[in-house]
Amino acid sequence: MAAKNSQPVSVVTGGAGFLGSHLVDRLLDAGHRVIAIDNLITGNTANIGHLAGNENFRFIKHNVSNFIFLPEEKIDYVFHFASPASPIDYLELPIPTLKVGALGTHNALGLAKDKNASFILASTSEAYGDPLEHPQKEDYWGNVNPIGPRGVYDEAKRFAEAITMAYHRYHRLDTKIVRIFNTYGPRMRLRDGRVNSSPKKSFASPKQNRRSNTNHCRWMIRRYVNRIFHVRNRSLIGSRVLDLRRESKKRSNIFGTR
Ligand SMILES: NC(=O)c1ccc[n+]([C@@H]2O[C@H](COP(=O)([O-])OP(=O)(O)OC[C@H]3O[C@@H](n4cnc5c(N)ncnc54)[C@H](O)[C@@H]3O)[C@@H](O)[C@H]2O)c1
Repeated sequence: MAAKNSQPVSVVTGGAGFLGSHLVDRLLDAGHRVIAIDNLITGNTANIGHLAGNENFRFIKHNVSNFIFLPEEKIDYVFHFASPASPIDYLELPIPTLKVGALGTHNALGLAKDKNASFILASTSEAYGDPLEHPQKEDYWGNVNPIGPRGVYDEAKRFAEAITMAYHRYHRLDTKIVRIFNTYGPRMRLRDGRVNSSPKKSFASPKQNRRSNTNHCRWMIRRYVNRIFHVRNRSLIGSRVLDLRRESKKRSNIFGTR
């Protein structure tokens, strides 16, 4: 029982999705208890089927755009990964995409605040829109068309970043935002519409130059988790921005707000 109490507890929204399920695996490997919440709108239980019977893992089917209630007293981390992410999905699901970026992020932040947990947002390079700078750095604010079809995803994520920073500044919540560039790997659906799954058709605008910006999911999740725990435990960030690219010469960026 004592061991269980000291075990870190993580909630992963979107935990049955492509990246969320790899994050769940990585957290379980690191000794966490993990609660994955997913409404399966673009995810699949096949991504987490191998975890059936794992006593450290629980799956809850729920739409996080609605209030999230968890009876657990101790939750240490809330990873908010829920969102349609492929252009095929978010163009088909414009309103659920806006809702999960806005209401879903608000609910996930509320859960983190209630449990005094750290909150980590999966944001996107799409926050830069059709960028006028290459490569993009965190201090570049982007070039987004709010009324174009892709605006449903880009603006949802920009709102998600803004409300995350508001919770950090107003409620002093420990928050981190990760702007992920296109990532590929096992469990990616064949009709995903990004990078390797559809080599003839890329949804990135030619100006975005994203094809040279792709990362393998296992590399990305490993770096992501390592940096989050490194930053949290050792207060690494004196300055606010951590440039993972400079460190690793790869293209995923993470920055913390503590
Ligand atoms: N894969 C990439 O290259 C990439 C790049 C940038 C950002 N991201 C971000 O990473 C996260 C995961 O992306 P992914 O590629 O794994 O996509 P995915 O579609 O495979 O996974 C998203 C998961 O979220 C779930 N979900 C969506 N709306 C939900 C809701 N309202 N309530 C509960 N669950 C919901 C889906 O069912 C799915 O399982 C997303 O937030 C995405 O914006 C991914």
